[in-house]
Amino acid sequence: MNRYQQLADLIKQQIQHDTWRAGERMPSIRVISRSHSVSTGTVLQAYQQLEAQGWIVAKPQSGYFVSAKLDRVEDPKQDALCTYPSLNDRLFEFLKSHNQEPFLKLGSAFPEPNLFPLEALNRSLASAGRRAKPESILAHMPPGIEGLRRAIAQRYIQQGLNISHDDIVITSGALEALNLSMQVVTKPGDAVVIEMPTFYGALQCVERLGLKAIPLALHSNQTSALVQLEQAFSQHNVTACWLMSNFHNPTGQSLSDVSKQKIVELARKHQVHLIEDDVYGELYFAQDKPSSLKSFDNGQQEQVLHCCSLSKSLCPGYRLGWVVSKRFHQPIQKLQMMSTLSGSAPIQLGIAHYLQHGSFDNHLRRLRKTLHQRTQHMADMLRRYMPSSVEFTRPQGGYFLWLKLPDGVSGEKLSQQLAEYEITVASGSLFANNSECDGFVRLNTTFAHLAETEQAIKQMGDLLRLALKEATV
Ligand SMILES: Cc1ncc(COP(=O)(O)O)c(C=O)c1O
Repeated sequence: MNRYQQLADLIKQQIQHDTWRAGERMPSIRVISRSHSVSTGTVLQAYQQLEAQGWIVAKPQSGYFVSAKLDRVEDPKQDALCTYPSLNDRLFEFLKSHNQEPFLKLGSAFPEPNLFPLEALNRSLASAGRRAKPESILAHMPPGIEGLRRAIAQRYIQQGLNISHDDIVITSGALEALNLSMQVVTKPGDAVVIEMPTFYGALQCVERLGLKAIPLALHSNQTSALVQLEQAFSQHNVTACWLMSNFHNPTGQSLSDVSKQKIVELARKHQVHLIEDDVYGELYFAQDKPSSLKSFDNGQQEQVLHCCSLSKSLCPGYRLGWVVSKRFHQPIQKLQMMSTLSGSAPIQLGIAHYLQHGSFDNHLRRLRKTLHQRTQHMADMLRRYMPSSVEFTRPQGGYFLWLKLPDGVSGEKLSQQLAEYEITVASGSLFANNSECDGFVRLNTTFAHLAETEQAIKQMGDLLRLALKEATV
């Protein structure tokens, strides 16, 4: 291989690894020539090759700049070796992009950090830490610290749900609660129903546990979905069904009470375990908290493993979640002991203190109001700036809007284009294990009050109009 080709390959690899990012200026020909001990002519040839392949662009009087990802031509030999990245790889890249500053994170799954009462939480952590006895800090066995389980159970009781603290296992976020629940009721090869689209954690769990997924769109047309659900339950010997009844991620939609009740009845009839993910249940815009599947689970045999966390409503980074299940209380603890052993004791004590002495309900009231306002504001901006063929959901809680892009427009491509402007959105392909959601994106509405967000939505509208124009020529 010629020296200039070696140099071009080296620079290309650096761009592929994001050492040089789109829009950044490349070192001058003279600098590279000196640092690599080659002639300026060799560097020029390398740069020209990279330019011809779309990796860099020359700007008159300014030098060479890294081009947008979409303009780059991958080496065909390399392409043949690459396989299509698995969901896990794509997710890893997507979640990593959320750590980049100064990106506007409209693709994030978490509310804007300023919405959480971090000072009050810190005070609770410090106060609980001061009072803790050495043995309580060192205690780290499932099911978790009793004071915390009591505080959680009391909240359910105040909301009309008869939950005992003895049936709660504290976990590291809802993700662990959901994974343990799924694992405890299934064995590899079992058929399970998952929603389509669904939270990507469900897709990863199904993959990891070697389960057979039966995808079902539960939210869009609930009447026909219930018929399909019954068919799936009776025809495929389904073991479990993982679903979100309130403010579903990514669509924001909720099941009606009639649907929730019917689903629990069907599950009981066909002996299917329902893994309920209720992480957004507290974030309702209406007067009252919506019901959960668990509230209809009052037969002799428990059907619902109810999973929840404080990640969306109080403190994402604290990783505090739980699962409510009388029937699987012990088996879940045994599984937990084999993986994470237990949640962190100081965090549990601090959160228990906050739930007992802090003003969680006041915080929630403020949070719900803000989320409602910002979601409405985001919807207004979408109406103003999107082409008329873009459709989106009108959730009654949470902070996601699910956008259906104009026919033929890819959410993945749009998200790559927006990344060039330092804006993230979650492309629909992250929420499905087939191509059904490729034409969608999920937007986080909690950043709607920022001036950059209005600019970003305008930019998105412009890109979509351009895509529509290109599609018609
Ligand atoms: C629907 C849904 N379930 C579960 C989780 C995981 O929650 P936690 O952060 O509490 O593990 C998330 C996080 O994004 C989510 O969106």
